[in-house]
Amino acid sequence: MAGVNGRSSNGANGPGPGGHYAHIVGWGMAVPDRVLSNAELSRIVDTTDEWIVSRTGIRERRIAGPKDTTASLAIRAAQQALEVAGVSPAELDLIIVATSTPEHVFPATACLVQDALGAPECGAFDLSAACSGFIYGLGMGSQAIRSGSLETVLVIGSETLSRIVNWKDRGTCILFGDGAGAFVLQRRDTPGGVLASLMRSDGSGGNLLAVPAGGSRMPASFDTVRDGLHAIEMNGREVFRFATRVMASACREVAQQAGLSMDEIDMIVPHQANLRIIEAAARGLGLPHDKFIINLDRYGNTSTASIPIAVCEAVADGRIRPNDNLLLVGFGGGLTWGATAIQWAVEAPPELSTWEHLRRQSVYQFAKVRSVMRRGLRQLEGVIWGAQTPEGGKEPPHRKEGEGKG
Ligand code: COA
Repeated sequence: MAGVNGRSSNGANGPGPGGHYAHIVGWGMAVPDRVLSNAELSRIVDTTDEWIVSRTGIRERRIAGPKDTTASLAIRAAQQALEVAGVSPAELDLIIVATSTPEHVFPATACLVQDALGAPECGAFDLSAACSGFIYGLGMGSQAIRSGSLETVLVIGSETLSRIVNWKDRGTCILFGDGAGAFVLQRRDTPGGVLASLMRSDGSGGNLLAVPAGGSRMPASFDTVRDGLHAIEMNGREVFRFATRVMASACREVAQQAGLSMDEIDMIVPHQANLRIIEAAARGLGLPHDKFIINLDRYGNTSTASIPIAVCEAVADGRIRPNDNLLLVGFGGGLTWGATAIQWAVEAPPELSTWEHLRRQSVYQFAKVRSVMRRGLRQLEGVIWGAQTPEGGKEPPHRKEGEGKG
């Protein structure tokens, strides 16, 4: 449908073009154990707890331990979301991992998640839209479901930003933290779920928030490492101005697409970057502070993970309830921004029995075994067929369509 300003959107309160609705049926989160307080930070850089709290609202953040990675946090969040949904990994059609800290340039972190979950050969890709990535992922996943092309999609936001922070730059290192959050989206024929979503960008502001080196433009070299160019660089004031400008307008626009007035919105879950930005958005929308879910005091800015983590906590403490109308709104490097309107239509199912929990753990153990076996089989195939050159003519037997699935 045509959105406001004549731009396309995937909005509207009714079913998608395929006659379906995309419901959020599962949600999960994972954060590292290590807590880094402002007091501890003030021993690393020239700052104080008072400065950080008054300028950002952040009191502490989580930092990945030696064994935590973007994929390991994503897998934990995904397993929890699948448990809540009562959905098995075999049902997944697509895994989207929104991240700015992928494990590698490639393979995609989403493929590592697919392998660990044992989701048989489903689609898997990473999505790069900085802190707006989860909003973009929800938009893409829900649209694929509403159109009828997919049935079940796992959308994850996962970050280990502590690995790309310049720990000598007090203007940025105080802001960021690590964590992951995940939603399971599934096709339903009853109204509700993701009602509308909005994705926007303005690349002219790309220089305001960037990791300059490590891509094809400035590959890693001795010089780039020496000059600290693999870490986040930011123009804080400009990003602040941009964020306060787009938050309220994105909320209004997506609510309008979903056919909801601001009075009908029960809760807003904003990207958790800075309390002052959220307060400015609340003023811009004329909404009370308590309509906003805020947990940045405990986690800082976890980029793509911040919105799903905030949703998980708000569902757990009863601030988000069945049939609530929600707006999720994010912004970040790119520049990118976006928003999603949701009717939170699904009740959390009862907790899994110990037996069911154990059964699921064994599924993940089996996925590990399967992964090792597949690697072994591939090596064996390489030994048998690998010596053949393209000219040599001898080709490995082709798999039939669908073979190897499951
Ligand atoms: N501790 C103490 N002083 C600090 C400091 C810190 N951690 N960081 C900066 N300062 C100092 C500056 O050096 C400056 O000093 P000066 O006046 O002597 O030059 C002063 O504080 C003011 O700096 P400024 O950058 O103007 O502060 P600010 O009020 O804009 O706050 C941010 C800085 C980063 C907190 C704020 O700009 C911000 O949150 N921007 C948005 C960032 C964001 O959300 N990024 C992620 C987007 S997804």
